[in-house]
Amino acid sequence: MEHSIGVIGLGVMGSALARNAARNGAFTVVYNRTTSKVDEFMESCGKEGTIVGRKSYEEFVAELPTPRAIVIMVEAGSAVDAVMTDLLPLLQKRDILIDGGNSHYRDTQRREKECAEHGVRYLGMGVSGGEKGALEGPSMMLGGDAAAYKEIEPLLQKMAADDGVNGKCVAYLGTGGVGHFVKMAHNGIEYALMQIIAEGYDYLKILGKFTNVQLAETFEAWNGTEEMKGFLIEITGTIFRKKDDSGKSDLIDFIADRAKTKGTGRWTVEAALSYGVPAPTIAAGLQARILSGGELHARLQGKLPEHLDTSEPVAPPLKTRSYMRSACELSMILAYLQGFELLRVASIEEKWNLNLSEVARIWRGGCIIRSAMLAKFQEMFASRDPWTSAGWQVLKSRFEGERQFDWRHIVDLATSRGVPAPAITSALAYYDALRKERLPQNLTQAQRDFFGAHLYERMDKKGEFHTEW
Ligand code: 6PG
Repeated sequence: MEHSIGVIGLGVMGSALARNAARNGAFTVVYNRTTSKVDEFMESCGKEGTIVGRKSYEEFVAELPTPRAIVIMVEAGSAVDAVMTDLLPLLQKRDILIDGGNSHYRDTQRREKECAEHGVRYLGMGVSGGEKGALEGPSMMLGGDAAAYKEIEPLLQKMAADDGVNGKCVAYLGTGGVGHFVKMAHNGIEYALMQIIAEGYDYLKILGKFTNVQLAETFEAWNGTEEMKGFLIEITGTIFRKKDDSGKSDLIDFIADRAKTKGTGRWTVEAALSYGVPAPTIAAGLQARILSGGELHARLQGKLPEHLDTSEPVAPPLKTRSYMRSACELSMILAYLQGFELLRVASIEEKWNLNLSEVARIWRGGCIIRSAMLAKFQEMFASRDPWTSAGWQVLKSRFEGERQFDWRHIVDLATSRGVPAPAITSALAYYDALRKERLPQNLTQAQRDFFGAHLYERMDKKGEFHTEW
């Protein structure tokens, strides 16, 4: 057969990816530590292509033609190391090991070195799109051994989603852990977009008094526009129409308001801080989740004084919806911008030479943050000077006129009426700080010099200065 691949780990994502490979004509060998899963998988999916299930690493490795290409699809962290400890002694030089989980990029860099000691080539592969994406076409972000990527690229091209512009959502992005870093930033943006949408929902429901049907119609309408179209907007519309098992009530109203996280959002914020990149809207998404499940909220909910300013009336529903559309759109543009800025700065520090336009392209299909506005980011970063590019001109023009006014109105009213909107609000503050000609950090510098003799720079002469305050 033209392609062959081994898949270790038959969880949701591993199973879907193995089936995707098999459906695309690859000889596929699967393994799972709990061997009953191999039987279950072979029973339910074994006929979807040429698939072989094996229950020991020795048998698994023996089935694969060399140089082997093996994808590890187990939970990020120590499970990946455990697989590698068992597997590496069985592999040959030039075999290719691909970690397709949400691993931390520093772990990927370490594992690449460990593999190199065995002559095994390593790739860190971010995979996005959830179960359906993994099965029908994910977005795949790869980093590591370039020659190894070239060897598996033809199969990955078949497996990946279409990018909508005659390409596939898969790319080799550079050396080391860059693939996992890009996937991590993707997830950070995912947190921000999800929080922006959640705040839109809260506002429209509480202040606009929207029913779930009206909410569904709102998100469906937004998804029908060129500016707002995107996977997360689309699924939100679907969610509001879903009934619970009784068939009478809306499921959304019974779901607990505590969001979990698996860690990639926190890693993004940690990375942003360590590379010195502000990412307030991504952080707002993460913190809103943490707060929702935290002890303090459980203790204080319904128990703090509430004095709301209700002097300004809430606009009629269609007007409210249109205000919120602007607030969500502009906040989302800035969430992407924060993610791309993190990638840009990290790429310089890590010498990845990351092509941001290519990142935007492979996010246009298959992944969770796919959206129409990514086309503009692709165009923007393809330009030698992104800030004069046609793509940026279009994105920037979205902040003009009424839309910016609508956004400010939403932040005003959410604040006076006590509906928390940390992501939308942080995006606006980020925008205003970027836009403003003079920031108040002259005072911060004066204070630092006052109490710590940390020196300050002046606008009228070069050098660093100290004052006896
Ligand atoms: C994707 C998703 C996927 C997964 C996240 C969820 O791109 O397909 O991001 O990787 O859904 O791990 O992360 P949280 O559990 O932290 O929300």
